[in-house]
Amino acid sequence: MSPAPVTVDKTMDKLVSLAKRRGFVFQSSEIYGGLGSVWDYGPLGVELKKNIKERWWRSMVHEREDIEGLDAAILMHPKVWEASGHVSGFTDPLVDCKKCKNRFRADDPRIKGTPGQPDAQCPVCGSKGTLTAPRQFNLMFKTFMGPVEDQAAVIYMRPETAQGIYVNYLNVLQSSRQKIPFGIAQIGKAFRNEITPGNFIFRTREFEQMEMQFFVKPGSENEWFEFWRSERLKWVEALGIRSEKLRWHQHEKDELAHYAKDAYDIQYEFPFGWQEFEGIHNRTDFDLSNHQKHAGKKLDYLDPKTNERFIPYVVETSAGADRTTLVVLCDAYREEEVAGQEAAEGGEQRVVLRLKPSLAPLKAAVFPLVNKDSMPELAHRIYDDLRRHFNVFYDDGGSIGRRYRRQDEAGTPFGITIDGQSTQDQTVTVRDRDTLKQDRIATTQLVSYLTQKLAG
Ligand code: GAP
Repeated sequence: MSPAPVTVDKTMDKLVSLAKRRGFVFQSSEIYGGLGSVWDYGPLGVELKKNIKERWWRSMVHEREDIEGLDAAILMHPKVWEASGHVSGFTDPLVDCKKCKNRFRADDPRIKGTPGQPDAQCPVCGSKGTLTAPRQFNLMFKTFMGPVEDQAAVIYMRPETAQGIYVNYLNVLQSSRQKIPFGIAQIGKAFRNEITPGNFIFRTREFEQMEMQFFVKPGSENEWFEFWRSERLKWVEALGIRSEKLRWHQHEKDELAHYAKDAYDIQYEFPFGWQEFEGIHNRTDFDLSNHQKHAGKKLDYLDPKTNERFIPYVVETSAGADRTTLVVLCDAYREEEVAGQEAAEGGEQRVVLRLKPSLAPLKAAVFPLVNKDSMPELAHRIYDDLRRHFNVFYDDGGSIGRRYRRQDEAGTPFGITIDGQSTQDQTVTVRDRDTLKQDRIATTQLVSYLTQKLAG
């Protein structure tokens, strides 16, 4: 079992605790002490991540004529990973401590000195000279297919979804009658036996990717690379992420993955520093050429206009669904002072997730002010009606101030309160999570009011 996630800022501790309290994210197998860097999404987390994935799918597949969707299997022919270079090149340099038997990445910042040399000090047991020289460690999980656990049956859990797209590129091209340039998009799980996992859902061993491979004519890849850089940043900004928390990072030669000629990351300033959550890569014809060679199948394209044959170049956009969810959560997390009536009802401090309303797991919460005087009956009718349109929550427990605070922590953008006036004139108050302002709305107008507020 690997060590607990490393957190370097109290904000992450608070976010992890809120995520558990409100049902966003739980540690996997928690009752058994947890499984290192594997996390489960609770009722609110699954909605938030699904909203992000659906938004990505809409913008990448439904809104574009030149991109098709795909859902390839996680398990693939083992030769795929030889051709892709992952068997030989998807490695991290690791060092072992001969005394305490712990294993670290060679570039672990906690290591003092040079691993393999007498000055190197183990960050766990503190011994000097016990760290081995770095050795390459493959990050792919292996498993066995079929009943016999021998070498012939070894297969891998995919470490990226991209390869499922490459091996299907001709199937999709032919069945969809697309022409180059065109793209294939996919959302799915990927697995990496990360050695220094941590920081909550930032680096995990099982995660989801939202990847799109855009196939272009050689020579046009730089133009498409810039196009996709600009599109992807716009998409991220439209999630409501503060632009001062976003920046580009171009990979230096020694940072480039084995398949990439050029790569830019979109980084976010997490509480633990600037880190990547999406990459745009120029993968050239590296993957398709290698698959053509290893599979012995022609993967070139005949341009119907020019009669030229070529292996397409690929521009890839690769985002982590979990990391994007973490960006959204970190960016939305605020601790605020509250004044006026709200402070009297729920306290002067609040924790609020200022999620973009269209991303919020719950769109509204329905509160009968008190559990008497026909208010619960009307509140239930409103709740039942709204549920047909939005994901809404009913809460009649505790003071109204406490109920607002719970929904603030859940990021619910609207609180609908049914009070004494409601039973007289069929109006309710709608409280805005961010401004704390309340509008009085006719119950017949609630669906259109919320629909308008949730757009975008
Ligand atoms: N197909 C290209 C590729 O996989 P990558 O930079 O290794 O490129 C792309 O990964 C994205 O996948 C990252 O930006 C990140 O959002 C996500 N990702 C990668 N490894 C991850 C991990 N261990 N845990 C969570 N997300 C991860």
